[in-house]
Amino acid sequence: MKKTVFISKKINNFNKKIYIPGDKSLSIRFVLLASMAIGKSSAYNILKSADLMSSLKAIYKLGINYRIKKNLCEIYGKGLNGFKFKNNTIINAGNSGTLARLIFGLLINSKNTVILKGDKSLKKRDFSRVIKPMQMMGQNIKSRSNKLPIKIKGTNFPRAIHYYEKIGSAQVKSCILLAGMKTPGITKIEAVHSRTHTENFFKYLKLPIQIKKKKNLELIKFKGMENYKGFNYVIPGDISSASFFIVLALLTKNSKILIKNVNVNNSRTGIIDILKKMNGKIKIKNKKMYKGEEIADIECKYSPNLKGIKINPKINSRAIDELPLIFCLACAKAKGISYAKNLGELRHKEQDRLKFVLKFLKMIGVKAIEKNNNLKIYGNPNLKLNGSYIVKNFMKDHRAFMLACIAALTLGGRSWSIHDVDSVNTSFPNFISILKRLGAKIN
Ligand code: S3P
Repeated sequence: MKKTVFISKKINNFNKKIYIPGDKSLSIRFVLLASMAIGKSSAYNILKSADLMSSLKAIYKLGINYRIKKNLCEIYGKGLNGFKFKNNTIINAGNSGTLARLIFGLLINSKNTVILKGDKSLKKRDFSRVIKPMQMMGQNIKSRSNKLPIKIKGTNFPRAIHYYEKIGSAQVKSCILLAGMKTPGITKIEAVHSRTHTENFFKYLKLPIQIKKKKNLELIKFKGMENYKGFNYVIPGDISSASFFIVLALLTKNSKILIKNVNVNNSRTGIIDILKKMNGKIKIKNKKMYKGEEIADIECKYSPNLKGIKINPKINSRAIDELPLIFCLACAKAKGISYAKNLGELRHKEQDRLKFVLKFLKMIGVKAIEKNNNLKIYGNPNLKLNGSYIVKNFMKDHRAFMLACIAALTLGGRSWSIHDVDSVNTSFPNFISILKRLGAKIN
């Protein structure tokens, strides 16, 4: 299979309507929650990507059947305590940090041991953030330095805990909530804000969850042990995938794009707030609610007057997966200096994404200074590239690959060779084909 793409021409102006594949966070949560429902659940427009296949294979290993017919996914759950699997069952989470973190919760009361594995990138990531609360709830976990492979065995007597989630990680919060489903009593989490999809799913399933907003935190109380019936869902488009096309339109002369049916849950729309503040021409249209999630169309236009921004760190978690794209393209092309703070979490993603940002900005000749995970980017609206650029992406990071493609198509340069095209299978398998539909020349 071809591993490298070559781009030697900026994209010409376009005016198109596109659809983006299903949201990754919602697709994974659908699979995991459906695996513990009673009876059949189905979802249309589920993301068909490597992370989703890892999730489906994982529940299959736990004894749950599924079926995929075209864009419909069906899962045949057996209830809250319906998993059946042999001792030392291996589950390979592949590249998916979300699956790997959330599955601890599902295994809080498992009778047998699971050996959790992952790919080269996932093996480098730290699991202490979920190991700590899961051990407090009674799970038996064996690992070397909190890294995969990890042996997980449940407890017969899960304990409800009161946990302070200070990172602002939806993966940690969701892991505890999923464990809380199988735990008698009331699980309490005081959490720094992060994406809210798990809570929204719980509310939609009418599970007894209470959320109190506090100033910088939210207090979540959840009463476990209730079975729920299989359910139907339609997964909206993923704003993290849409973001590459938002930035493409903002930076391409005389262009306009309408991205249909995207999840615009407030905990995910940091990129829109940031780009609008930078003078990005973005409109949210046709907003509606669907089973607790907000969905809308996003219209974006060429925005020649981008200006630098001071990003309030409170926004970071609402744009966590999009920050590198914002830094490397929008801030790089903006007039003036941009500032961002408290970016340590970027170091814990599929690769150290803060390091990637600094390397990338240096490569395209944009001055950037990083100190104690705070970043200063000296934007240049007249940025014109004329060199040849090679982007090697050591951890095969899907978002780094896509960011580099958008850079090549908007910043120009003699030629770009961008490695690891297969990384897009993680979250956005038809990324290149949508770009080509807009007129991009990619070999
Ligand atoms: C995700 C949460 C985020 C995000 C990841 C998906 C989720 O991670 O980076 O791509 O689906 O819960 P953290 O919760 O660790 O910040």
